[in-house]
Amino acid sequence: VSLKNFNTFGIEASARYFAEISHPEELTELFADPQWHTVPRLVMGGGSNMLLVNNFDGIVIRLNIRGIEHRISHDDVVVEAGAGEVWNDLVNYCVDHGFAGMENLSLIPGSVGASPIQNIGAYGIELKDIFESCTAFELSTGEFRNFTKKECKFGYRESVFKGELAGQFIITSVKFGLSLIPNLNLKYGAIEQELAARGIISPTLKDVSQVVSHIRVSKLPDPSTIGNAGSFFKNPVISAEAFGPIQQKFPNIVNFPAGDGQVKLAAGWLIEQCGWKGKTVGHTGTWKNQALVLVNHGGATGNEVYNLSSQIIDSVYTKFGVTLQREVNIIS
Ligand code: EPU
Repeated sequence: VSLKNFNTFGIEASARYFAEISHPEELTELFADPQWHTVPRLVMGGGSNMLLVNNFDGIVIRLNIRGIEHRISHDDVVVEAGAGEVWNDLVNYCVDHGFAGMENLSLIPGSVGASPIQNIGAYGIELKDIFESCTAFELSTGEFRNFTKKECKFGYRESVFKGELAGQFIITSVKFGLSLIPNLNLKYGAIEQELAARGIISPTLKDVSQVVSHIRVSKLPDPSTIGNAGSFFKNPVISAEAFGPIQQKFPNIVNFPAGDGQVKLAAGWLIEQCGWKGKTVGHTGTWKNQALVLVNHGGATGNEVYNLSSQIIDSVYTKFGVTLQREVNIIS
C-alpha cells in the first residue's frame, strides 16, 4: 500500500499491511488477530509530523475515528473529539460555537489524536493549556486507558507518548477544557501587528483565528501543494552559561527566556545564518519564508530529506556549537 497520500511530506513509501480504524472496537478486533502480535506497527493520524525514510515492513494503522461532542456547564465547556478528526476542523467547530481556548492553534496540520503526542503549540499557546484527558488503546494488552493531563507529562513538543511510552498506545479520543469567556492571548508580536493592520481593537475569537491563519499561510508552505511537516527541528533550549559566549560572538542572536536559567534559541534563525534559507538541494530544501521548515519540492525520498537535515545539524553545530534536535518523527 502506498503511503504517499497519507504523509504531508508527500514521500513515496509503502506499508506491507494497512488498516483504517473508524471505531475504537475495530482496534479490539485487530488485537484478536494472532498476526497483530507478530508484525511491527505504525500509527498514523494526519501524517503531518513524520518523515518516512524507508518502506514500512509491518502494519500501518490509520486512525479515522470521528465525532465531536460538547458539554456546557456555566461558563466551562468540555469538548471531546475522536482521534481522527482533522485538528483544524475541531478548532473551527470551537471558534464557531464561541468556545475559547484553541483559537491560537488554528491551521496546525494533523489530527486530534496526534495533538497530545508532541504537545502541539503556536503563538503563545500549547495543547497542554486546554487539554483535560485522553483515551488510549494499549497495544500490548488490548485495553483502553484514560490519561490525565499530569500522566501525559507534557513538555515543549514532548509527552509521555513520545517519551517513555512511545509506540505503546494509540490515542482514540481527546477531551479539552474550554470556556465561554474568551481569555485571548495576543502577546505574540505578529498577532498584535496584524490585528492593528486590520483596525481591530477588540478582537473576537474568529478575528484571532483568522489572523493566526493568515500569519501561518504567509510563513509556512501549504502541505497540499508543497510537501512538508512544519518545523523540522525543535528550538534548542540551552543554559545561560552556554549562551553567554555565543551571544558575545553573535550579538544579534534571536533568543527568548525559557525559565530556570535557560535560554531558547530560534532554530530558524540559526539555520538561516548558516546560509540554508530558501536553498534547494536536489528534490528537497528549506522554505523560503521559514528556514526551520524542510520541504519536498517533488519526488524527494525520505533519505534525501533526512540527509539534508543531517547537513543542517552539522553546519549549525560548526558555526554555533549548538546541536539541533529533530522534531519530526523519523520512521525507518
Ligand atoms: N527566524 C529567522 N529565520 C527564519 C525563521 C525564523 O530568523 O527562517 C526567526 C524569526 O525572526 C523569529 C524567530 O526566528 O524571531 C521565531 O520564528 P517564528 O515566529 O516563525 O517561530 P519558530 O520559533 O520558528 C515556532 C514553532 C512553530 C509555531 C511558531 C509560532 C517550534 C519548533 N516551532 O516556530 O510550530 O507555529 O513558533 O508560534 O517550536 C511546528 O512545531 O511544526 C510549528 C510550525
